[in-house]
Amino acid sequence: MKGVIFSELINWVEEDFSPALADQMITGAQLPVCGGYTAVGNYPHEQALAMLAALGALTGREGDDLSDAYGYWLAGRLAKHYPQYFAGHDSAISFLEAIDGIHQKEVSKLYPDARTPSVIAAVNGQDLLVSYASHRPFAEVAHGLIRGYIDHFGDNLAVLRDEQTPGPHAARFILQRK
Ligand code: HEM
Repeated sequence: MKGVIFSELINWVEEDFSPALADQMITGAQLPVCGGYTAVGNYPHEQALAMLAALGALTGREGDDLSDAYGYWLAGRLAKHYPQYFAGHDSAISFLEAIDGIHQKEVSKLYPDARTPSVIAAVNGQDLLVSYASHRPFAEVAHGLIRGYIDHFGDNLAVLRDEQTPGPHAARFILQRK
């Protein structure tokens, strides 16, 4: 997985927890690269899971809760660093409907060796259904990203989880107007 996802994970812990805790997390995760991720490098996603597990042990928080919190924070960072992908979108619904194309075409142009997840959004009556699928187990990060973009655009939407797809590799989210 691209280094940007790992380096932002460390940035998140430094900012929302503390730089000292970020160091402890890196030590606890026993990473071969000692936390030195470059944005264009490619690293096993297990290293991100190891950092989240180490952070869970240090904070007493559940891994799912931390993954979701990381996704929420990451949403703001991606909006800041990749403004070009947000042009023309004024709502989370319109942005999420475009995200699969952005992942598949734009992100792949930027990082040709990326293997982005499938994130398909479809309008269903008043709701938006967002289906996540990946060979990586980051459904909770996707949940946090969706929450993050709802807040980023200031939309009045609640995110429900379809309990029939509870797995970390595949999940369906229902976005409902409040
Ligand atoms: C401008 C917005 C976005 C950018 C630039 C972006 C970019 C990326 C990049 C570079 C990766 C690493 C892929 C790899 O290394 O193979 C990634 C992974 C990921 N993206 Fe996005 N992304 C964006 C928005 C979203 C949104 C809105 C969602 C979900 C709703 C999402 C869900 C994920 C997840 C869960 C991963 C982790 C890898 C996996 O699950 O397979 N992303 N994204």
